[in-house]
This record gives sequence, structure tokens and C-alpha cells, in this order.
Amino acid sequence: MNRLIVALDVDTGTRALALAESLRGIAGGLKVGSRLFTLEGPSLVRQLADDGHKVFLDLKFHDIPNTVAQAVASAVRTGAWMINVHASGGSAMMQAAAEAGRRAALDTGVPAPLLIAVTVLTSMDEDALRSVGVGRALPDQVVTLARMAQAAGLDGVVASPLETSILRSACGPAFGIVTPGIRGASAGTTMDDQARTLGPADAVRAGASYIVVGRPIIGAPDPRAAAEAIARELGTP
Ligand code: C5P
Repeated sequence: MNRLIVALDVDTGTRALALAESLRGIAGGLKVGSRLFTLEGPSLVRQLADDGHKVFLDLKFHDIPNTVAQAVASAVRTGAWMINVHASGGSAMMQAAAEAGRRAALDTGVPAPLLIAVTVLTSMDEDALRSVGVGRALPDQVVTLARMAQAAGLDGVVASPLETSILRSACGPAFGIVTPGIRGASAGTTMDDQARTLGPADAVRAGASYIVVGRPIIGAPDPRAAAEAIARELGTP
């Protein structure tokens, strides 16, 4: 399994497609976030998928169950391989999302997408959690939401490097854990705005199913060489 997902954090479809092409065979997935999606729309996702890339459509849906279900079904029709929602939308919302993803995949004759949940945004600390009415300790809230996602039939969660190992223990070996915040070792020492980081192999040892790497690859003079170094560290070709 190729665990490397590269964040295509660029601002034009042309750059995204060129990067995708240069990473062909090295990246296990390509992440399209809300900035690129808002600029370029679903046609870019479709084009990447048609070109044979696995697209993680990182739009973090959070709305009433019916709306999220429809958004997930629409995302499946773009050919996305991985889709995410906010676990704090609740069990009914996540169940509706999972069901809609499976149904849309059946209707369109594609494999069901991986549906994962964001637990607590890593930009939030315990004070920020308290300010929105959550009194639990942050790790407890992360584990509670991850278990809720698992019970709702989701395939995994996004987790910071700091949360990866507790989530692996809490949710078992088969649950997906997608870990951004990768720095150090083959991902280089430039921290950018990441603070709590792990290197690629350390993140996998902590329990990550996939790691998400952006700037250490897309900002490198030779993105393919940078991705190859990370793939080597992970033991994938
Ligand atoms: O460039 P860098 O490797 O920091 O990119 C990491 C990617 O993962 C970015 O797209 C960022 O938005 C995303 N991400 C993150 N931390 C989270 C969730 C997502 O860095 N907690």
C-alpha cells in the first residue's frame, strides 16, 4: 500500500495537473483542498481521476445530514477516492454520509470512496474547545469523536501526529488514520507553520495508514525527487 498522499496546495488547475503528472507512480493519493477546489471546481477533480490519480477531496463537509449526504454523493460523482466530513456534525450526519457514499458509488459503478472524519481541528487547543462548550480534555474529545465516526460506519479519521498512536489504540488496526503535519527525516527540517510533527516513518510507526505531505514536496526544487525520498523512507517504490 502506498501511504503517501501529496497535498496539491497550489492555486491553479494547470499547476495541480503538472504536479500530479510529475508525481505519477510515486504518490498514493493527491489531496485537493477547499482553496484549489473553490478556484477550479469539480472538473479538476474529474480530470485528475480520469488521468488515473486517486483524489482525496478535502472539503470537510459539515451540515445537516441530508445536505451532507447529497454533497458526498456529488463528490463520488467527481471520481474522488477519499472524502471527509466533520465528526462534530454527529452520528446521524455521518451515517447519512456513509450511506450516500455507498449508494452513489453503486449507482455510478465506481468503488465506494473512503469516507473519513475530522475530529478536532488541530488549530484548536483546550481553551478553544472550552469556548465552544466542550469541557472534555482534548485527547478525550478526539477519541470520543473518532469512536463515533467508527460506529457510524466511516473508514477512518484525520489525526495530528500527536493523536495518531492514541487513536490507533482506541480504534483498532483496521481503522484508517490519515496524518498530516509531517516534518523531519526525508520530509526535511523546514517547519513552515507546523508545530507538532513526526517524520514519515515515525508517523507510520505511530499508526498512520496514510501521511499527508504538502510543502516539503510541492515546494521542493524537484518535487518528484522529494516524493521519492519520502517513499523510500516508507519502504514503498
Ligand atoms: O505543507 P504541509 O505538509 O504542511 O501540508 C499539510 C496539508 O495537510 C495541508 O493541506 C494542510 O491544510 C493539511 N492539514 C494539516 N493539518 C491538519 C489537517 C490538514 O496540515 N490538522
